[in-house]
Amino acid sequence: MLNDKNIVLGVTGGIAAYKAADLASKLTQAGARVDVVMTESALEFVAPLTFRALTHRPVVTSMFELSSEFSVEHVALAEAADIVVIAPATANIIAKIAAGIADDMLTCTVLATEAPVVVAPAMNVNMWQNSVTQENISKLKARGFTIVGPEYGRLAEGMMGMGRFAETGNIIGTIQHVLGRNGDLAQKRFVVTAGGTREPIDPVRYIGNRSSGKMGFALAEAARDRGADVVLVMAATSVPTPAGMEVINVESVAEMKEAVIESTRQADVLIMAAAVSDFQVSQQAGHKIKKQGGKLSLELVGTEDFLLELPDTFVKIGFAAETENLLENARKKLNEKRLGFICANDVTAADSGFGTDTNKVTLLYSDGKTEELPLMSKREVADVILDRVVAMLGKKG
Ligand SMILES: Cc1cc2nc3c(=O)[nH]c(=O)nc-3n(C[C@H](O)[C@H](O)[C@H](O)COP(=O)(O)O)c2cc1C
Repeated sequence: MLNDKNIVLGVTGGIAAYKAADLASKLTQAGARVDVVMTESALEFVAPLTFRALTHRPVVTSMFELSSEFSVEHVALAEAADIVVIAPATANIIAKIAAGIADDMLTCTVLATEAPVVVAPAMNVNMWQNSVTQENISKLKARGFTIVGPEYGRLAEGMMGMGRFAETGNIIGTIQHVLGRNGDLAQKRFVVTAGGTREPIDPVRYIGNRSSGKMGFALAEAARDRGADVVLVMAATSVPTPAGMEVINVESVAEMKEAVIESTRQADVLIMAAAVSDFQVSQQAGHKIKKQGGKLSLELVGTEDFLLELPDTFVKIGFAAETENLLENARKKLNEKRLGFICANDVTAADSGFGTDTNKVTLLYSDGKTEELPLMSKREVADVILDRVVAMLGKKG
């Protein structure tokens, strides 16, 4: 996913420096060429050999080091970079960059580069909350830098607080989002629903479904990587949540409705990939229902079909997960719900549907055309769907 990208990874002198090794490794595995630049303080925490072994590239530790292939030209890295990532970023490096200081290879690179810069701060809670650090962060944001984290959690000092280094997955998601800025979905706002809703029966039980969230996540990630600002409205899922997007957690259809109405106010596209319950119990019990002789009857009523309530100011794409009469049922849904197109998905087919990494879908358009896609990874399916969305947005002007 990061094939042929040149990433300069600046590692600075904080406790979280060891976590940068995991980041360097994952970025390299994703296909990026990772050049690590370490500050002098960072060398106190992790050995350059670690990064060298993980990235298979020389590690820059000094501006004047003759053995480095980059030291001859102190801005060579800055020019070659597609993106500069400082992770972890100390309060000190943030202050130096905000002030325009260039007294080592990392600060020189940041000052000289035209590539986007992502900063992942990690520090003691008081250092983070100090007004000087906050002012410096505001300055970086105003200059177009992207800040990821810090997160709330257990800090090295043993207490809980704000200052923890962002999770590797969040940093990589942010890098992908920033690198996608010039993609064909740049400046577009996408709302993607994913996962399966849960309708409560009583305080401990619910009616759910088998949706894993994988198809919705693939769509959200693909849109993010093509430059869209993505809001993910996420019901119950069984796979890790993607990063580099706004996530709204919901449980029931009613909660999903509220989140979708709110988040689509400024949207260009809504993709409904979530498996939304068709039924809910007519009367939810306020307490845990007891066994009472081993039999229980529940009266179910239909849930609200909120898609029909949404305005026609944005493109809507739906999914029809069916087990029989696939195309017939999907076309009915397409017509009833005023969708741009619908992705029909036979969830009983091998390698398709819930929980799988692949999917085979047929796209049905409102002019009566159908397009049968071959079995592909869910990410590939997502990219084809987005290609069709791009074409629709183009037509809409
Ligand atoms: C054990 C130890 C842990 C530290 N952890 C952090 C940290 O997590 N975040 C931070 O901003 N500074 C931390 N510091 C302070 C920095 O190392 C110090 O500000 C240093 O000058 C940073 O240099 P650099 O920004 O050039 O890497 C730590 C210092 C020590 C001794």
